[in-house]
Amino acid sequence: MTVIEEAAPVLRPHAEQQFAHELAQLAKDDDRPRPPGWLLSPQAVVTYLLGDDSIGITAKYVGPRRLMEVAVATLATDRALLLLGVPGTAKTWVSEHLTAAISGDSTLLVQGTAGTPEEAIRYGWNYAKLLSEGPSRSALVPSPVYRAMALGTIARVEELTRVPSDVQDTLITILSEKTLPIPELGEEIQARKGFNVIATANDRDRGVNELSSALRRRFNTVVLPVPESVEDEVSIVTQRVASLGRSLELPPVPAAEEEIRRVVTIFRELRSGVTSDGKTKLKSPSGTLSTAEAISVLTNGLALAAHFGDGILRPGDVAAGIIGAVVKDPGADDVIWREYLETVVRERDGWKQFYRAARENSR
Ligand SMILES: Nc1ncnc2c1ncn2[C@@H]1O[C@H](COP(=O)(O)OP(=O)(O)OP(=O)(O)O)[C@@H](O)[C@H]1O
Ligand SMILES: [Mg+2]
Repeated sequence: MTVIEEAAPVLRPHAEQQFAHELAQLAKDDDRPRPPGWLLSPQAVVTYLLGDDSIGITAKYVGPRRLMEVAVATLATDRALLLLGVPGTAKTWVSEHLTAAISGDSTLLVQGTAGTPEEAIRYGWNYAKLLSEGPSRSALVPSPVYRAMALGTIARVEELTRVPSDVQDTLITILSEKTLPIPELGEEIQARKGFNVIATANDRDRGVNELSSALRRRFNTVVLPVPESVEDEVSIVTQRVASLGRSLELPPVPAAEEEIRRVVTIFRELRSGVTSDGKTKLKSPSGTLSTAEAISVLTNGLALAAHFGDGILRPGDVAAGIIGAVVKDPGADDVIWREYLETVVRERDGWKQFYRAARENSR
């Protein structure tokens, strides 16, 4: 193990590792009351999320402060938090950072899928031990939720609505009684103070299993919106692209502002079905064209510019990525993209170079 750890730094540190210095600083200066089991006061958690330049805390979430206040306040009550929204609205991202700031450990995570079994939320067994010793605490394999209950920390459940309904409902007792019965041992574990659950769910997914009303009542829902204005979205993308570029150790590429604005404008126009001046109606392609995808188109563009270009992000470096994001269904989306290209992009001032690059890539 240690040999591997020494070989290279981890690819993606957890939030509590990456921002350890910010969390330590906030904790040191935090003189407000902390809910039982919390490492920071609710105020300091919100500062960690939204950032504060004056004390050197970077912004993790860009959006309405009130939403984060509601989310954090919920976690200090006996209700769990459900972060809901279309893809790429930072649900997972916010859940990781909230957990890092409140509990100092964002790794107690259940990834919800159509095949998530009850054991992933309750506990399983080490069958070798179960057969040799019979049921015992040492043969029991705790789930992340079980461990969070025992430690008094936050457990995360990703994509809760993909989990089959009967499995979802195992959360009801956990969230209302704050206990998890272990009938095989005639025991139970009781959650310690500080325990709670943050779930995320996507309201655009196919094959979702709606939460039962009993379970829904145990959650407070916070809907994360698509960024309201072009400016907001440009600032999210700029920030995330810069920090991804640093962590991937891409050579620095200056002045990407113009390309970032272009990608964000194209995504917003195609998403909303109308040009930014409100004059031309457009057809929307089948993909979601989320902020998260804009971030990855630009990060790819930066890698191209740094390694194969002249070190400056050019229209040609983002064109292929944009087309890949827009044209998910080669038939219908391709027609929509070409129409957009010919009616909107072609006519726009300062977009000639991009138009040519996009034409070349569309062939
Ligand atoms: N408002 C925002 N503030 C900061 N970062 C954002 C914002 N919106 C999107 N992002 C960025 O988008 C990326 C993807 O977000 P994330 O994976 O959390 O989305 P999601 O809502 O969980 O999507 P999905 O439904 O596909 O799981 C993250 O890198 C995040 O930083
Ligand atoms: Mg997610």
